[in-house]
Amino acid sequence: MSAPSLIVPAGGRFMRRLSSSEASKENMSLGPTVVVPPKHLMAPSSANEVAASIEVARHELEDSAAPSTPSTPPETLVTDKYAYAFDIDGVLIRGGKPIPEAIEAMKVLNGANQYGIKVPYIFVTNGGGKTEQERCVQLSQQLQIEVSPGQFICGHTPMREMAERYNTVLVVGGEGEKCRQVAEGYGFKDVVTPGDIIKDNQDTTPFRKLTEEEYRHSRARNFGETEIEAIFVFADSRDWASDQQIILDLLMSKNGRLGTRSETFEEGPPVFFSHNDVVWSASHDLTRIGMGALRVSLEAMFKAVTGKDLKTTAFGKPQIGTFQFATRLLQQWRKDTHSIDSPPDTVYFVGDTPESDIRGTNEFDNCAENNWYSILVRTGVFQEGTKPRFTPRATVDNVLEAVKHGMEREYKKALKASFIDVDGVQGSAIEE
Ligand code: G3P
Ligand code: MG
Repeated sequence: MSAPSLIVPAGGRFMRRLSSSEASKENMSLGPTVVVPPKHLMAPSSANEVAASIEVARHELEDSAAPSTPSTPPETLVTDKYAYAFDIDGVLIRGGKPIPEAIEAMKVLNGANQYGIKVPYIFVTNGGGKTEQERCVQLSQQLQIEVSPGQFICGHTPMREMAERYNTVLVVGGEGEKCRQVAEGYGFKDVVTPGDIIKDNQDTTPFRKLTEEEYRHSRARNFGETEIEAIFVFADSRDWASDQQIILDLLMSKNGRLGTRSETFEEGPPVFFSHNDVVWSASHDLTRIGMGALRVSLEAMFKAVTGKDLKTTAFGKPQIGTFQFATRLLQQWRKDTHSIDSPPDTVYFVGDTPESDIRGTNEFDNCAENNWYSILVRTGVFQEGTKPRFTPRATVDNVLEAVKHGMEREYKKALKASFIDVDGVQGSAIEE
């Protein structure tokens, strides 16, 4: 693949890709123009290699400017130096609709940029409630790109690693039977839902009756002989009162057997939440309460009823495990789709929630082998005029600005590595 070239005109602030139709001997010889081949953006190189590749690029440009050269569009290279990871709600999507700049941001990453490169990216959301495949089909339509499950992690994705550990589990949250299907797809062997429990004994939830459809889909079983070994909250509860009643019954039971009461309240099954976001960014102008709020509520309720503290576990961001999972996913994705076998020097994580996206990225940056650079956007949970509890490396208006910020930063780094001095990173970002 031939390398497209980058040019920094006099003044050095703006860069553009030279196609055969754009490049001419005139504009190449005007002023202190420096040609930087994108090899600098692709791989570590020594000063000798830089000088040599600049020379090669000069010849290529001269050749491409010759009248006899046919006009062929330049090929787009994929950078192996850096990558992006995107949060979804409040960054790319809000209330089921794409944030306007998100579509353009994806185009920029896919080559519609002045550097003539593509940048690999993945998605890391705390949301869930559907299979990864289903979520990717939806995201593909919303963002007008192809999104593969190979580049997607949702809050409950890491829960698949628990499928071997427990036999019978209660799965809570989401629409209808969807989360049961997700759990079974992960390999959970015996999945119970709150609907199954209410179907077995309607008195479980005095104020909730199953709809006809819910009753039909819920599974009949003998709960007198069932021990529920763990509780997984996969997605947001659609009915807090009845879901909490059922979880509380199990937590106070002897070994997860419904209808029993432990004397110590220490014999119930463990509870896992797919994430801990107390609030999130939906279609309402103000943030909405999320799964983290249910967790707080459940812990408080357990304390009020039993007098004991309840310890629960949350997956998702900001857990380091989620970022380790993301690292493995990104590594596999870059290898499978771009034949890149080394980790990126920098991963730009773009998020809207300081407590999960920024905190997780910053903490992972402290222990990861490569750099994780947090970028906070103003389109979601974080609101201008407030001080984020966790400080991002940069704050920008929206995801498009975030993408531009990272790309310009990388270009500036590449220029520095080539001993070429340029002005500061352009754009409206505030870099900490
Ligand atoms: O329920 C989903 C929400 O809490 C956050 O999703 O994409 O912002 O991580 P996201
Ligand atoms: Mg978000």
